[in-house]
Amino acid sequence: MARILVTSDIYSESQYFVDEIPKANQFQISSDFKNMPGSKMLNAARVLHALGNNVEIRGLVGDDQEGALMLEKIKAWGFNIDNIQKKEGEKTGHIVVITDKSGNSSVTLYQGVNTQLTPDNIFPHKTDLHQYDFVYTGTHLPLGTLYEIVERCNLEKVKVFIDFPNKQKEVDLTRLENADYIVPNRQEAELMLGIRIHDIEDAKKALNLLRERIDGTIIITLDKEGCITFEKGKTDPKYYETTLVNGGDATGSGDIFRAKLVSELAKGIELDIAIKNSLKLATESVKIVGVDETLKSLDYKSSW
Ligand SMILES: Nc1ncnc2c1ncn2[C@@H]1O[C@H](COP(=O)(O)OP(=O)(O)O)[C@@H](O)[C@H]1O
Ligand SMILES: [Mg+2]
Repeated sequence: MARILVTSDIYSESQYFVDEIPKANQFQISSDFKNMPGSKMLNAARVLHALGNNVEIRGLVGDDQEGALMLEKIKAWGFNIDNIQKKEGEKTGHIVVITDKSGNSSVTLYQGVNTQLTPDNIFPHKTDLHQYDFVYTGTHLPLGTLYEIVERCNLEKVKVFIDFPNKQKEVDLTRLENADYIVPNRQEAELMLGIRIHDIEDAKKALNLLRERIDGTIIITLDKEGCITFEKGKTDPKYYETTLVNGGDATGSGDIFRAKLVSELAKGIELDIAIKNSLKLATESVKIVGVDETLKSLDYKSSW
């Protein structure tokens, strides 16, 4: 069983369901309400856990009611919460999602204590990093913290995998040159490079540009078009198609792709097969509506 450390941001996510998303000065009654711990990193941690890995989440909550409740719920999902720290005098992060009848949502995010995650919060025991097979992290972290994680993983020879949910323009890619896997989606890669990726040829150009600054394996996920990889040590990118799903709900599909990929790589499966299996699971996930429902009911045990 692989040991994987996920550096997670943690939000108390509240979702309201309305006929129409209210505009300024308007009022709407919500027909249903959900509250649970949310974030892209938590989605990935749940998938990694469901795939049978030993996953440890490290992150911060505030010393408020929401923080205590989120810890309780994360524990109920089956995670060890010993290394999620509660920070005195700080507020837990919040997300408010308002979803209309057609499935469109407005999202408001309050980052709270998540902006304060330091290397010492993530590695409170200085010597324990080497026991992990992978660190799953991303640009949700303060960038100084992210750069230090990459350096420490490199020193301890622990594989590090990076998601790119934000700060695509601020990130200094040369500080990530030793990261093992860098995995933005199409829109994130566009922001990182200041170019548009309309088709596979554009995606190849993007990978060639990234290769000038990064040594590790780079993968861009391309939604209905699958993904494209530039493996470490190879001379050319390689494109993988997937089966188009019309309609459905693609929310969280990138997190599912990345988590499955890390799970496969941690088992020692070669990149080519790992990518194909990850595309299958991610594409399958698009057929299920609602992220929580998807994460609960995905067919993790299937032969892929
Ligand atoms: N409409 C779709 N049809 C089939 N597969 C999809 C579709 N949208 C997403 N996927 C699958 O999910 C993966 C990740 O989607 P993508 O949109 O690139 O990531 P993100 O969720 O980060 O925006 C894709 O590589 C693909 O396997
Ligand atoms: Mg997408």
